[in-house]
Amino acid sequence: MRLYVNVDHIATVRQARGTDEPDPVRAAVLCELGGADGITVHLREDRRHIQDRDVRILLETSRTGVNLELAAASDVLALAEEWRPMQVTLVPEKRQEITTEGGIALGAGEARREVGAALERLRNAGSRTSLFIDPDADAVRATADLGADAVELHTGEYANTRGTERARQLARLAHAAALARQAGLGVHAGHGLTYENVTPLAAIAEIEEVNIGHSIVSRAVLVGIERATREMAEILRRARP
Ligand code: PXP
Repeated sequence: MRLYVNVDHIATVRQARGTDEPDPVRAAVLCELGGADGITVHLREDRRHIQDRDVRILLETSRTGVNLELAAASDVLALAEEWRPMQVTLVPEKRQEITTEGGIALGAGEARREVGAALERLRNAGSRTSLFIDPDADAVRATADLGADAVELHTGEYANTRGTERARQLARLAHAAALARQAGLGVHAGHGLTYENVTPLAAIAEIEEVNIGHSIVSRAVLVGIERATREMAEILRRARP
């Protein structure tokens, strides 16, 4: 099972002050040292966290692989064509949402044509392609028809439910993962995964890769703050013994 760490929220903290720290690229190096198999960043159209500069430097410095999440929109697609990351995951994007809310729409018509055209551009640029979808048979079939290399199954509903409903969502994910594998797709999963809920999901054999961001960044803040405080207290003690 490959662990891709999403470092978007390192950039969220930086953007809150508009300074240059904390740097998601430096965080990515530490994630790799900690055993990450890859780094995920979402270049949103509104650039609310990850900036173009972050992706460019990350692509130069990553020792693993970069999974770039994007909407199928023209300006970010053109950047992905220029940058040619190892993998691009297409996600739906709404300006007002706090985080990605659902899988990408693949019904017939304009939305599906747009995703198909985006996949072709990314394929021609040489990136592996993945679609972030709800864990449903129709979406898995549509992903295979469109010729993507992989699906990323949306685990948000699994993460947000409890008890028998969570068990139902886990079975839904297992079924979608099996269908995707049968269709020859790579099988990834992500959204809302935490230290507490990841174990049952990791037991689904077809899932090869997970993308985890918020929970790891949240844990990092807590496990790191004691040392960070001690280091500042030490500087002050030395300045004024
Ligand atoms: N996968 C996709 C497609 C996402 O959009 C996100 C959130 O940016 C994640 C995974 C990571 O979700 P979380 O931050 O809840 O771990």
